[in-house]
Amino acid sequence: MLSSEQRQRYDTDGYLILPDFKSAAEIAALRQRAAEIVAAFDPAESKSVFTTNDQGKRTDRWFLDSGDKVRCFFEEEAFDAAGELKQAKALSINKIGHAMHDLDPVFDAFAHDPRLGEIAAGIGLARPQIWQSMYIFKQPGIGGEVRWHQDATFFETDPISVTTFWFALEDADLSNGCLWVEPGGHKGPLRERFVREGDATHIETLDTTPWPSDGAAVPVEVKAGTLVLFGGRLPHYSAPNRSPVSRHAFTLHVTDGTAAYAPSNWLQRGPEMPLRGFV
Ligand code: FE2
Repeated sequence: MLSSEQRQRYDTDGYLILPDFKSAAEIAALRQRAAEIVAAFDPAESKSVFTTNDQGKRTDRWFLDSGDKVRCFFEEEAFDAAGELKQAKALSINKIGHAMHDLDPVFDAFAHDPRLGEIAAGIGLARPQIWQSMYIFKQPGIGGEVRWHQDATFFETDPISVTTFWFALEDADLSNGCLWVEPGGHKGPLRERFVREGDATHIETLDTTPWPSDGAAVPVEVKAGTLVLFGGRLPHYSAPNRSPVSRHAFTLHVTDGTAAYAPSNWLQRGPEMPLRGFV
């Protein structure tokens, strides 16, 4: 599936952009299903917010128990001072996570795409295992910033193997909070580790190398349907969305089953819901 030139670019830059990967019909089906999940979600169940600000301390049970469930998380700016939603629920959700790829037929079909298995093989994932799916809304006006990080912080394996499959479901550009990456930054160290101890989590510093300067970061402006592939050590972030347009994306986090998966990772799977690859 990947040409040798594409594989070389992935090795050099740490990421690869594959335009027109998913069809308009596949995207429409996923968007509709996500809208149905949000419509069925009762905020009385949880007002849990997802934020990358002080994430170690602000992670709660709604999040920690979501690894084998389908749950909605609010944007940090969704609520007013009285704790009421400032806008419609459908425009207040930060993301849905984290097991739609195993539990929901529409998400399952989108994620278990044999072409993704070929790509995974092409970049050296011997036994891909999909740990997590996220539907990210990046809502108009209040879509939260995701600070600089590396995804291997959240999916520690030895050796590092986590790979992110990031699908644009809408056009992503500078105005609505597209991804930013540091080309070649995957050759630097892993800086942080997100550790779970029972019901508590914290972020441990592994390396004090600073996050990339503005000059070293490039925006990844892509059209809907594009797949952006990147490795677990690539520094990336996205700015808040202050525009009137949403920026929906869908992500899969995949490790290599031949690498040892850390017992301190927040997301674990029991035998009742075994991990699957792309087929
Ligand atoms: Fe990330």
